[in-house]
Amino acid sequence: MDFEQIDPVNTPAMRACHALTDAGRPVDHPHLPALSFEGFKTWWFHGDDRQESWLARDDSGEPVGCYQLVLPERENRAMAFGGLFVAPPRRRAGAGTALLAHCVAQARQAGRVGLASTGAVRTKVRDGSAGAAFAAARGAATGLAEVIRIQEITPVLLKRLAALRAEAETHAAGYEFVSWTGSTPDIHLEQVALVNSAMSDAPREGGVEPEIVDAERIRAAEQSALANGVHLYSVAARQPATGVFVALTQLSMYAGTEDWASQGDTVVRPEDRGHRLGILVKFAMLDLLTRHEPGIRYILTGNAESNTHMAAINERLGYQVADTYRSWELDLTT
Ligand SMILES: CC(C)(COP(=O)(O)OP(=O)(O)OC[C@H]1O[C@@H](n2cnc3c(N)ncnc32)[C@H](O)[C@@H]1OP(=O)(O)O)[C@@H](O)C(=O)NCCC(=O)NCCS
Repeated sequence: MDFEQIDPVNTPAMRACHALTDAGRPVDHPHLPALSFEGFKTWWFHGDDRQESWLARDDSGEPVGCYQLVLPERENRAMAFGGLFVAPPRRRAGAGTALLAHCVAQARQAGRVGLASTGAVRTKVRDGSAGAAFAAARGAATGLAEVIRIQEITPVLLKRLAALRAEAETHAAGYEFVSWTGSTPDIHLEQVALVNSAMSDAPREGGVEPEIVDAERIRAAEQSALANGVHLYSVAARQPATGVFVALTQLSMYAGTEDWASQGDTVVRPEDRGHRLGILVKFAMLDLLTRHEPGIRYILTGNAESNTHMAAINERLGYQVADTYRSWELDLTT
């Protein structure tokens, strides 16, 4: 196989990679929506981390598989993250093993001692899938399980949630809610970064450091998402007197998938927990979303299996379990 490094602006190689991941979606991610090319690029190239991607072709030039490799430079400097994909008709013929060998060599060359399939849900591996059997066969160890839930927004659900919301509001006197679409207004940027630091106690992989969220990083992520046509929605709860953000929820909609939204992080500061703010920011988000996106039908969310508080909130909001995904990690020191 020949390996070609994919340049983000090299559209033919990116399109080949999109086509082969899309062809695998019905078996790899049966409950997730198909991604448009723009949506695929948004998911594939993310954040401000160093990243490389490779496309493998057979002797006749036919694309066989591809992989992405993220090499963080701020946190987790000893780790590499990513995922590899083989076109469905080419599976079980050793291509995945060859891609993995190439990927491991690149990660080692960058001085990394571990390679993990964590990150966005499509680079995690669905329990029971070919990816899980492959990872186990290649000697990877299983990591944190993430339960994927989907909320189907129907008039019946919205009616039921209205009563739940009224009850929750009685626990949250003294807070007010602010929302915005698109990039974070300058006046909110510092507070968004601060409240995000409350995420550092969320369940995460052993040995994986939490990402530091600062204003620069928020801006970089927003700019790249908006450039790819992503719609961004945010709701915060704050103390009216101080303006301090105590809770935040964020959600995005990829271009070309008008009926699906992906839930981002929802966080409540430890000292403000117990006031139903987690569910209330999500109620306010539903208002915002249905107002701006008339075609919205489904919201996708993923929570660590051990995050029982968030799971309970999502169950109350009518989310239904779709699948369990999991990270896998390969020790590169042996
Ligand atoms: C996982 C994936 C990359 C494997 O590609 P592949 O080319 O089929 O892999 P290989 O042929 O090198 O398989 C190596 C071994 O893995 C195991 N394996 C792979 N697919 C399997 C399956 N569907 N069922 C059971 N075992 C499987 C087998 O032990 C296999 O050896 P064998 O065929 O001699 O029995 C491919 O199925 C894929 O693209 N899946 C979707 C994305 C994904 O989950 N990526 C992995 C983690 S990031």
